[in-house]
Amino acid sequence: MADMTDPMAKNGVGDHLPSRNNVVGEGPMTMANGSPVVDNQDTATAGVRGPVVLQDAWNIEKQAHFNREVIPERRMHAKGWGAFGDFTVTQDITDVSHAKIFSEVGKKCEIFMRFSTVAGERGAADAERDIRGFAARFYTEDGNWDVVGNNTPVFFFRDPKKFIDLNHAVKRDPRTNLRSPNTNFDFWTSLPESLLQTTIIMSDRGIPSSFRFMHGFSSHAYSMVNAAGVRTWVKFHFRSQQGIQNLTDQEAATVVGQDRESNGRDLYEAIEKGQFPQWKLYIQTMTVEQADAMETNPFDLTKMWPKKDFPLREVGILELNRNAENYFADVEQAAFTPQNIVPGIGYSPDRMLQTRLFAYGDAARYRTGINHHQIPVNQPKGVGCPHSFHRDGQMRVDGNRGSELHYEPNSYGNWADSPQLAEPTQAGGDIAMYDYRADDHDYYTQPGMLWRAMTPEQQLVTCENTARAMGDATLQVKHRYIYNCFHADPAYGEGVAKALGIDISTVDLTGTPANSRAEWLARNAVGKELDQPTKPTEPATAADLPPAGRDTNAADPKSLSSWEDDPYLL
Ligand code: HEM
Repeated sequence: MADMTDPMAKNGVGDHLPSRNNVVGEGPMTMANGSPVVDNQDTATAGVRGPVVLQDAWNIEKQAHFNREVIPERRMHAKGWGAFGDFTVTQDITDVSHAKIFSEVGKKCEIFMRFSTVAGERGAADAERDIRGFAARFYTEDGNWDVVGNNTPVFFFRDPKKFIDLNHAVKRDPRTNLRSPNTNFDFWTSLPESLLQTTIIMSDRGIPSSFRFMHGFSSHAYSMVNAAGVRTWVKFHFRSQQGIQNLTDQEAATVVGQDRESNGRDLYEAIEKGQFPQWKLYIQTMTVEQADAMETNPFDLTKMWPKKDFPLREVGILELNRNAENYFADVEQAAFTPQNIVPGIGYSPDRMLQTRLFAYGDAARYRTGINHHQIPVNQPKGVGCPHSFHRDGQMRVDGNRGSELHYEPNSYGNWADSPQLAEPTQAGGDIAMYDYRADDHDYYTQPGMLWRAMTPEQQLVTCENTARAMGDATLQVKHRYIYNCFHADPAYGEGVAKALGIDISTVDLTGTPANSRAEWLARNAVGKELDQPTKPTEPATAADLPPAGRDTNAADPKSLSSWEDDPYLL
């Protein structure tokens, strides 16, 4: 039985490791030019009590370097932790992909993974209600393959232009610099397609007790191509072999009060103690013909591919078994990008993914510089002899490919491309800014399915977490959320209304899902007269619920490792 004074005890890592670090280097301290530092205690002054002189070069160098120690933090997913390990193929999937990484059962490849929260800054507490980033890099012999996913199978919306608004909405208010529940929920509730994602975040799964106890998802569809040149659409799933464990709002408050680094400490200590976390990698596959026949858009990031139609297929197992020797070098400087794929794996037309292909490299060039590929964690370690064309740029420190000629075409056969690896063609269409609502306005079916898959206890907790998270949001915003939940399932709307202390008969529940931009704007304008802050509610009936029926404190967390009966996988 876990020690209930420390909610993190249920993760089973045991006593914390000593905070002592007694690793020492060799020889006396030197300056950057290698010359010994004569005095690291007293700065040179003109006379015993006189002013400092510029010629104490060590003082100047030390101050100047310190001022530049911090690099820009990731704009989102700033707070994160990572580790190294390996991936082993356990099942043959060569019928769908010719990627060399999958060429034989038993084949191994080095990996690096980084987990993160999204909204908080680099110093934020880990135990926050938020999605978790789940980024995995495979150092394959054909180059780095990154799956930059989350711990949820869907996202808030399906158009990349909204990503910037999301981050503005969940981060800080321009005036107060505080996070604002109203801003947050004003944005989410105004996008009905976000309901599946917000339902997951507000549920028991919204605060994983440890990165080790959560699943990971590519969320997007990608593609795979086999040796015969046949394309298959795929989604990647990482199933935690530790199972699922979460913190309640009440437990998270205790944890944050005791330890802001709860998830990082847990990951680090588990690995140091030899409790290596593992995830099984699965793929869901969809043929091109199946995708063409889908009524809903298979590349819509707000929806799951139903598991009964698209069952998961095991691929291999990931294990993390080595902590970084230096956090900044490997974890802070890691630059993941969904652009990193290898032959046999490809993109999909998902609008969001397509934009991410640009965004990450761009962010990395800003955050770590144009030559960030030279930083060891970002190097294509699996490739025997990488032959990158790029030259010059700030901080080029690898010899810059010496005297090798630097243009193509040339008369010497250098810089050959690999046309044999070209993907099969893909059909295009007329260019326009298509209103996705006209194509698909089914915002509520899957949130309703998830609601009905939850136990009564999980439903109650989801409603109460929602009510707490909505804080003082305006009555208009609260009504809008009740409307969305109600259309997913009447009992969901009623549950959220009750937790918010709102009589549902006062909420305008009329209307059908908006199938155009105009209808959507009209729906969001409903209740303008209710645009007044409310008093936060503190529903507490679920606080003392016993573990039975909950996702949290499961007696056997591993029971949620399998995908077949996981209620959160529709
Ligand atoms: C159009 C939508 C999106 C855009 C433009 C975007 C952009 C970004 C950018 C610029 C970063 C910071 C990268 C860096 O500084 O190294 C980032 C981090 C991240 N994003 Fe996204 N993102 C989007 C959607 C998503 C989605 C849908 C997922 C998951 C399925 C996701 C998962 C992550 C993760 C895990 C990280 C942290 C990577 C790490 O650990 O270094 N993002 N995103």
